[in-house]
Amino acid sequence: MRIGVVGLGYVGSTTVGCMAELGHQIVGMDVDRSRTEALMAGAVPVTEPGLNDMVTTHAAQGRITAFTDLASGVRESDCVFVCVGTPSGRGGSLDASTLRSVVLEIMRARLDQGRVVPVLVRSTALPVFHREIMEQARDVLGDRQPLAYAVHPEFLREGTAVADFFAPPKIVFGTSDDAAWGPCPDLYPGIDAQVLHCGPLEAAMLKYADNCFHALKVTFANEIGLAGTEMGVDSREVMRMFCEDTKLNISSKYLRPGFAYGGSCLGKDLGALTAYCRREYVDVPMLAHVVKSNERQVEQLVERILSHSPKSVGLFGLAFKANTDDLRDSALLKLAEKLRGKGVKVLAYDPALDPEHLCALNLCYLRETAPHYEEMLTTDPEAMVRESDAVVLGRHFASLNLHSLPWREGQRLYDLEGTGTNPETPEVIGLYW
Ligand SMILES: NC(=O)c1ccc[n+]([C@@H]2O[C@H](COP(=O)([O-])OP(=O)(O)OC[C@H]3O[C@@H](n4cnc5c(N)ncnc54)[C@H](O)[C@@H]3O)[C@@H](O)[C@H]2O)c1
Repeated sequence: MRIGVVGLGYVGSTTVGCMAELGHQIVGMDVDRSRTEALMAGAVPVTEPGLNDMVTTHAAQGRITAFTDLASGVRESDCVFVCVGTPSGRGGSLDASTLRSVVLEIMRARLDQGRVVPVLVRSTALPVFHREIMEQARDVLGDRQPLAYAVHPEFLREGTAVADFFAPPKIVFGTSDDAAWGPCPDLYPGIDAQVLHCGPLEAAMLKYADNCFHALKVTFANEIGLAGTEMGVDSREVMRMFCEDTKLNISSKYLRPGFAYGGSCLGKDLGALTAYCRREYVDVPMLAHVVKSNERQVEQLVERILSHSPKSVGLFGLAFKANTDDLRDSALLKLAEKLRGKGVKVLAYDPALDPEHLCALNLCYLRETAPHYEEMLTTDPEAMVRESDAVVLGRHFASLNLHSLPWREGQRLYDLEGTGTNPETPEVIGLYW
């Protein structure tokens, strides 16, 4: 394929060298003439093991051309990778102005040339910027061409970029339409990596989720290090063993957006560690803010529910998780109490919590945290749904057929778990989906 690469910086140069190595013909484009001339001569402006040799070889074999003029480059390309910079502006905000102007210029060139040349954006930008750019591109194209826009995030690490290119953790194509998907299956012949296909906004957000998580991992390990060192613990040894657990720690567990955590352990242990650090003046801001962030999850749901002014709310689930009657630090119980505090009538149904058979410990906890619990707990899910303006699906109970409940028009169902088995009648609102 003839692949256009706009922006011959770090990402663009790596793309040029490695795509040429895969057998593609490369058309480099950059406003900086010194970069296009260097590329034609077989050199790139970045230092990356193995890259310069590859580029020199392929330039010598005539596989690489370069232009300072976008329209000329687009004319020679079957698809175009956009790798221009998206630097930080004031206060860390993103400056996507170059990305925007390059994309729109390519769209205008496509129209002039009467060819649909798919645009694959490798530059990193927030989903909201891609949405704006796609809207503006649609305005340019009108109904004369499909959008053919893909967010194709880059996951290379500087220093090992070439090795990462040939053994990537994943290849992601977030495509706007079939025209954008067109070239994708043939871009990486022989590369053994999982290919993830999604919408453009999800692909853009994935890049941020990845990088935020990587930053979070480093900070987490370092804060455990700080706290451990203060107590004379070898935290490297701790984290080595931590990583051995691939069931709960290094796994997809606890990484599904949903409602706040609760229960008798997480909050308590986090509290004990951060209280100790506070006392000893060990600053662990990330760990210290986890509790606050978790509380905000509850408050934000309360705000969302109250924005529609329901007089009554029904709650499926009240214990801290499914199949237990343990109410300690239950986020759903906090939700119920916050709603009650705002004058909303709350009913809660949880088959694990039979008001007549609650164990003494849970009963005491309930009396303390929710003194009016007898008015709240119900064993009749049908009556609860009938009496509620809004319903919160905190748990999906296998024993319960949601479809057979007496839902009515105008009711809102807030789904915190998202199993996709919801009835059609109430308006279903997924928490984060
Ligand atoms: N560097 C990394 O490790 C890395 C990894 C993943 C993603 N990214 C993202 O990739 C993008 C590019 O990063 P980079 O480090 O390669 O940037 P860079 O600053 O090294 O290179 C950008 C290139 O774009 C060129 N350019 C600027 N305006 C142009 C225009 N109007 N037309 C054509 N070319 C133009 C510049 O001359 C420069 O050569 C950024 O969005 C970055 O966040 C970078």
